[in-house]
Amino acid sequence: MAEKVSVYEVGPRDGLQNESIILPAETRIELVRRLTKSGLKNIEIGSFVHPKWVPQMADTDAVARDLDHTSDMAYWALVPNAKGLTRAIEAGVTHVAVFMSSSETHNQRNVNRSIAESLEGLSEVITAATSQGCTVRAYISTVFGCPYEGDVDFDRVLEIGDKLLEYGAFQISLGDTTGMGQPIQVGENSKRAVEQWGVDKVAIHLHDTQGLGQTNAFAAYLEGVRNFDSSVGGLGGCPYAPGAPGNLGTEDLLNLLHSIGADTGVDATEIAKTSEWLRSSIGFNIKSRIQL
Ligand code: HMG
Ligand code: MG
Repeated sequence: MAEKVSVYEVGPRDGLQNESIILPAETRIELVRRLTKSGLKNIEIGSFVHPKWVPQMADTDAVARDLDHTSDMAYWALVPNAKGLTRAIEAGVTHVAVFMSSSETHNQRNVNRSIAESLEGLSEVITAATSQGCTVRAYISTVFGCPYEGDVDFDRVLEIGDKLLEYGAFQISLGDTTGMGQPIQVGENSKRAVEQWGVDKVAIHLHDTQGLGQTNAFAAYLEGVRNFDSSVGGLGGCPYAPGAPGNLGTEDLLNLLHSIGADTGVDATEIAKTSEWLRSSIGFNIKSRIQL
């Protein structure tokens, strides 16, 4: 029996948020529709953050309103706070992702809060979301290194994750926000996370800054991780993290997973066609490693 592996697509959010081309809602909706056709079951469609901070995500309300949130698809939206949650729920969203960093400086620059303030705020946001019937996923950023502070103590990551799960998040996504992770470190820490929380509660969110995204994904896979985030065509990064171009590309992740016989349920050719559409019709400077 092939190992089942879940792929969580972040291109329409983490990808687009870091591109200088700002897409209108209709094009973002078209992107989500094309990705849905590939067999993905989890797609992060945008964020409800402050439009002044991330103008690329200003129209997420319109994107969310156009999608069917009652289907078997999970269309996720990133929310930073109570205001973001209210906007998401008003737009029909039922799957929300919250986020905070495991390093103080990155958290301050990203959400203008200390770690303690974020934990307090997210406790309320997660409680409010779950009590209104939403499923909540929680990202912890900078888990394998912070661009401002350097090394991050993984004990602190586990402590933050414990709290977010206790508040009601169903899964923790370990964010290598600027792609500083290295394979042995990623493998060892993935193992600790899987041991502490169990396989279903651990996801890994890799960025390919150093070209180690695929290798780090394999290191995590070997230590039991079965939930992976990736971005079509390798779009994306974090606008408040210098040196964070490129999430791990969905094509690269699929190439890896399919080559080792894992079952993702995702059609890699459809993903590659979407990358080609983003390149040729929309003008993004991306390249798919899957030949059409
Ligand atoms: P703040 O200025 O501290 O917010 O920003 P505030 O609570 O003090 O409110 C100030 C004003 O913002 C108020 O308006 C609020 O209503 C408004 P005013 O009264 O002045 O007119 N406001 C909002 N407006 C719209 N939507 C909202 C919202 N909240 C407050 N949700 C805030 C705090 C978090 C909003 C801001 O810092 C922000 O938007 N940051 C954006 C952060 C971001 O999007 N970062 C990228 C995503 S995270 C990421 O990429 C990492 C990840 O991929 C994992 C990984 O790679 O590690 C997930
Ligand atoms: Mg990211």
